[in-house]
Amino acid sequence: KSIALKFDKTFDFVSKDAVYGYAETMKKHNEALHNKTGKGNDFLGWVNLPSSISETELADYEATAKALQAKKIELFVVVGIGGSYLGAKAVVDALSDSFAQLKGGDKPLIVFAGQNISEDYLYELRELLKNKEYAMAVISKSGTTTEPALAFRLLKQDIEDKYGKEEAKSRIVAVTDASRGALRKLADTEGYKSYVISDDIGGRYSVLTPVGLLAIAVAGFNIRALVQGAVDMEKATGVDVPFEENLAAQYAAVRNELYKNGKLVEILVNYNPKLHFVAEWWKQLYGESEGKEGKGIFPASVDFTSDLHSMGQYIQEGERKLFETVISVASPDREVRIPTDPENLDGLNFLANKRVDEVNKMAELGTMIAHVDGGVPNMLIELPKLNEYYLGQMIYFFEKACGLSGYTLGVNPFDQPGVEAYKKNMFALLEKPGFEEETKAIKARL
Ligand code: PA5
Repeated sequence: KSIALKFDKTFDFVSKDAVYGYAETMKKHNEALHNKTGKGNDFLGWVNLPSSISETELADYEATAKALQAKKIELFVVVGIGGSYLGAKAVVDALSDSFAQLKGGDKPLIVFAGQNISEDYLYELRELLKNKEYAMAVISKSGTTTEPALAFRLLKQDIEDKYGKEEAKSRIVAVTDASRGALRKLADTEGYKSYVISDDIGGRYSVLTPVGLLAIAVAGFNIRALVQGAVDMEKATGVDVPFEENLAAQYAAVRNELYKNGKLVEILVNYNPKLHFVAEWWKQLYGESEGKEGKGIFPASVDFTSDLHSMGQYIQEGERKLFETVISVASPDREVRIPTDPENLDGLNFLANKRVDEVNKMAELGTMIAHVDGGVPNMLIELPKLNEYYLGQMIYFFEKACGLSGYTLGVNPFDQPGVEAYKKNMFALLEKPGFEEETKAIKARL
């Protein structure tokens, strides 16, 4: 079984012929990705990544996860930002009990740090960690990113104070470049267990490397099934797969055709709040890959039906520059049936004996029809179930489609030069050594 993509509800806005007209272009771009002949071709390690993950690597991540779990840790702190955080967060949230943080359980909970510079967040996290058993992963490909480096400086001291330097070492895992960056030097000097992020895989394409897989394994999820899903999608979107069967090529074609026809914003929609961070991961993947040179679809997201009561009005009747891509999970894991109430004071007996999911699915269908009627084209990505295997398929599907889509747009989908602008100003304002000229210039503007 596979995830499915349906896009017939875009044909009121773009023609079917125009979409299928992308077949040749997509084939060419797919070849460029596989043959490494396109823009950003030194960052294409993700293309064949799933099928090249070895048994030894998987066993290694699992063994590290087991060794950490054996310390009876309650929390696993993952220090990282952007691509060094969102993939693990997306998968762990999608697979976890909605109330895991309150219910507890026999597997460690994953908490994050270094994904912001909030003083309150760091204070409150450090307070929490005082009374918990925990271990930590510090993840930074460049090894120099300010947010995680700052958080790790604080958390490293705390973990050493709590457990002593030697024991702390066995509770810290570093994931970074093989040789470059401050974190590599620190990890080697301290003697932490460390994993390498390969040079040719950018942060936002790195969830299926130790960047994502380690935390997912520590949380107790099946990384083999996740990787298998990605392996199967790697095959299903390969160069020899015709456009009619290649979901990634189809998705890339439809969204580019919509963009050409004035649909500038894509909203990723879910009807299951566990997918909230899948959308955050997706926003980074597409926003950072395509938003450049004055171009690119703006990736947005909503959680329905919650946000139908906030953003629903705009989507139905606001600027007609939107399209939606709905992630729908065919079968929920749990069953809840609506009871009969003889008094029927709430008037809900028309729903008696139905599953809650049936109501959710009718909300989904009704919304799709309403939004299409209101001028918002809709695509649907259907996952048979929310499990590791289909998440693995979905991750690779989105990655492949993003590469194809970026090439179709004519940009390099694997760089992010624009991210430097805020860093330069922040360093200038903080008077970082080496930024003396920038400091003078920015201060003159204040
Ligand atoms: O996709 C990317 O490359 C970025 O979002 C990075 O993941 C993010 O900036 C964090 O970088 P690093 O892992 O070097 O700390």
